[in-house]
Amino acid sequence: MNEKNFDVLKSLLLSEQTICDSEQLERLGSDETEDFCFPPSIALAPKTTAEVAKIAAYCHQEGIPLTVRGGGTGLSGGALPVHQGVVVLTHLLDSIEIDTDNLQVTVGPGVINQNLRDAVEAVGLFYPPDPSSKGSCFLGGNLAENAGGPRAVKYGVTKDYVLGLEVVLADGKIIQTGARTLKNSTGYNLTQLFIGSEGTLGIITKIHLKLIPKPLHDLLLLLPFENMEDACSAVSDIFKAGITPSALEFMERNAIEWSAQYLGESLIIPTNIQAHLLIELDGRHLDVLYQDAETVAAVCEKYPIGEILMADASHQKEQLWKIRRNVAHAVKANSVYKEEDTVVPRFQMPLLLKTVKEIGKKYGFESVCYGHVGDGNLHVNIIRGNLSDDAWQTTVMKGISELFQAVKEMGGTISGEHGIGYVQKNYLPIVFSETELNLMRSIKQQFDPKGILNPGKIFPDS
Ligand code: LAC
Ligand code: ZN
Repeated sequence: MNEKNFDVLKSLLLSEQTICDSEQLERLGSDETEDFCFPPSIALAPKTTAEVAKIAAYCHQEGIPLTVRGGGTGLSGGALPVHQGVVVLTHLLDSIEIDTDNLQVTVGPGVINQNLRDAVEAVGLFYPPDPSSKGSCFLGGNLAENAGGPRAVKYGVTKDYVLGLEVVLADGKIIQTGARTLKNSTGYNLTQLFIGSEGTLGIITKIHLKLIPKPLHDLLLLLPFENMEDACSAVSDIFKAGITPSALEFMERNAIEWSAQYLGESLIIPTNIQAHLLIELDGRHLDVLYQDAETVAAVCEKYPIGEILMADASHQKEQLWKIRRNVAHAVKANSVYKEEDTVVPRFQMPLLLKTVKEIGKKYGFESVCYGHVGDGNLHVNIIRGNLSDDAWQTTVMKGISELFQAVKEMGGTISGEHGIGYVQKNYLPIVFSETELNLMRSIKQQFDPKGILNPGKIFPDS
């Protein structure tokens, strides 16, 4: 990008929508991923789709990298402008229009997940996907990474709620995908192609979502297990007993302990407890939920467990959820770490956990594991601690490759909800053949022939 490009970009929007200050650009060079910093050359905050189109058209004409950033909460570096250029900020694209007749909502990509939840819950509706960062992540980023969250186990992930999109293509053309319908068998599904494409195929400027009625009641159980693998085995047993919890979360001892400490919450964990399951049940009838809670307890009591905590008071539920949702922050406060977002068929969870710990021993790293075990989705946080640069960059990478190989052999894959982005791209050949990767490359080529959209992401050679 030359000086003339910079001057033109600077003149595209109003000065209050334009960031050139180096300190602010430096902040936009980082997200929640490890300790990276790739500042962009300039950042622009469009207010309208037409402004987004104007930016894209100019970047396309000049071959300037364009990376979209939402709330900056990503854990795979998806929003990092690793090739510099322009960062497009979406916080001003934050409209919310609720259609209570059809149980749908149309939002801008800059709407914070929690703000959408609050708006629809005020009219008795519910948007289930709730990543841990729901208080700060944006819907646009949720779509870009196909975010999940604790409730995915019962209600599905972001992609399951998207009916259609408005998208600005790389050259500035504006398209509409999908329809405002619950069913659609019309042509290729471009909507789903954009979801999870991490800003590499187009810029999402409007999102049509379906909603559901808000469940009336919920219960939350905290179950302490003496053995980590038992906690994972109990997960499959719960589903086999006919229960589909609205959340089924796992936290190994360090995860829950570090998070409680980080938050200053008092939570005493007996020394014989290695892991906890946090299980939410929701529905329309409280008596049914209590019956289901008894079934869950009976299933888990087949294993050596401690005292089960049933949280029905809202402050207690909030405390437990706060602890669960802050594990990533607590780990980050302890050490730089690498986030691995492994996902396997649910029944393989005990084997996955065992494999993680064995590989950690072999390659000399500690890990803190937690996550959405009801989905078979385990977040493996590899702790840098005092590891040397060489151990961190070379030995740990070998361990991660071995872990991902094992995950593939279990029928799983290398990201359940955080995406490939910048940090996982070199592992992609573990799960895709060259033919499969080339098909994806040819899709990218169709949508973005000049390779300006979020370069340096997903593909190993990018
Ligand atoms: C969570 C984020 C890290 O589950 O995905 O807390
Ligand atoms: Zn998660």
